[in-house]
Amino acid sequence: MGTSENRVSINIAGKAMPGVGLGLWKIDREQTADAVYAAIKAGYRHLDSAADYGNEKEVGEGIARATADGLCTREELWVTSKLWNTYHSPEHVEAACRRSLDDLGLTYFDLYLIHFPIALAYVDFETRYPPEWVFDPAQPEAGMKRAPVPLSATWAAMEDLVSNNLARQIGVCNYSTALLHDLMSYAKIKPAMLQVESHPYLTQEALLRTAADYGIAVTAFSPLGALSYVSLDMASEAESVLTAKPVVAAAARLNVSPAQVVLRWGIQRGTAVIPKTSRPERLQENLSLEGFSLDDEEMAAISALNQNRRFNDPGVFCEAAFGTFHSIYD
Ligand SMILES: NC(=O)c1ccc[n+]([C@@H]2O[C@H](COP(=O)([O-])OP(=O)(O)OC[C@H]3O[C@@H](n4cnc5c(N)ncnc54)[C@H](OP(=O)(O)O)[C@@H]3O)[C@@H](O)[C@H]2O)c1
Repeated sequence: MGTSENRVSINIAGKAMPGVGLGLWKIDREQTADAVYAAIKAGYRHLDSAADYGNEKEVGEGIARATADGLCTREELWVTSKLWNTYHSPEHVEAACRRSLDDLGLTYFDLYLIHFPIALAYVDFETRYPPEWVFDPAQPEAGMKRAPVPLSATWAAMEDLVSNNLARQIGVCNYSTALLHDLMSYAKIKPAMLQVESHPYLTQEALLRTAADYGIAVTAFSPLGALSYVSLDMASEAESVLTAKPVVAAAARLNVSPAQVVLRWGIQRGTAVIPKTSRPERLQENLSLEGFSLDDEEMAAISALNQNRRFNDPGVFCEAAFGTFHSIYD
């Protein structure tokens, strides 16, 4: 972890990744190009994209406008995207990666991740893109359709992306400690990144220690906790960590916002954070995490809020939304 040009960065396989990125999930397509442009203008150099977010073309428009206007070069940006569940079969991995690259107008990813350790039946680009979770929405009661693809086969195809210069680094999301141990046993190219849900109500200590033991960097998604899930009826406003006592107290002492405290807590634990906002006025707030720090007592008090509360759990939301029970966490 270090700071350069007043920005926090994370060491990922010897390369500096900006420690704060813009999360792009649930940014409306119509708003996305402007949001990306505004973020780059505000100083963001790290974008967290995914085929599944359905807005990669618009993300690409924002990047193209920003680079054309001289706000930054492609090389100065860190762009992450993710392999969707329906493309786990080795023969589909490169095409899925190329589709995301084409949509974004890029020739390589800084980081390409397996989105979930969940293999679903293939849906071709013409039938539906992005294909989401349900195999045939015309028959929604059929729900999700699993595919018998081992993660080791998907990983070997991810390694080929590095050999073919389509991805500089590869990694995984939503892996448990057991899946990480397994991956490390067969990976020829080691995963550079583990991206998982983490915030003060889900501190993931064992997972972070395991990743650290293997030298795998960690990115915390949904770093602000419940807020992202209220509109999806997967959390209530009352579960917001931004009103928790130790967060509010630290915010008052440091004269920063509760969101900045929670994001800074994530950074001080050594994780990257990728807060999403659709509100231009919050872009700068979420990026400005240097120039103040939480002391040991504040860090401990915020970490003690842990309730192992996971908001993004396929074992819960797939059953509620698609009628398929598919658990990945015990
Ligand atoms: N790998 C995976 O499986 C996975 C899963 C989930 C998410 N992700 C990634 O992680 C990113 C972040 O996670 P997330 O979008 O779930 O949640 P998040 O960034 O923790 O929270 C977003 C929510 O917080 C609000 N917010 C943002 N900044 C705020 C501030 N300064 N003060 C108060 N409220 C604020 C946003 O509202 P406004 O938009 O109105 O500001 C939105 O409702 C995603 O966008 C995505 O890129 C990855």
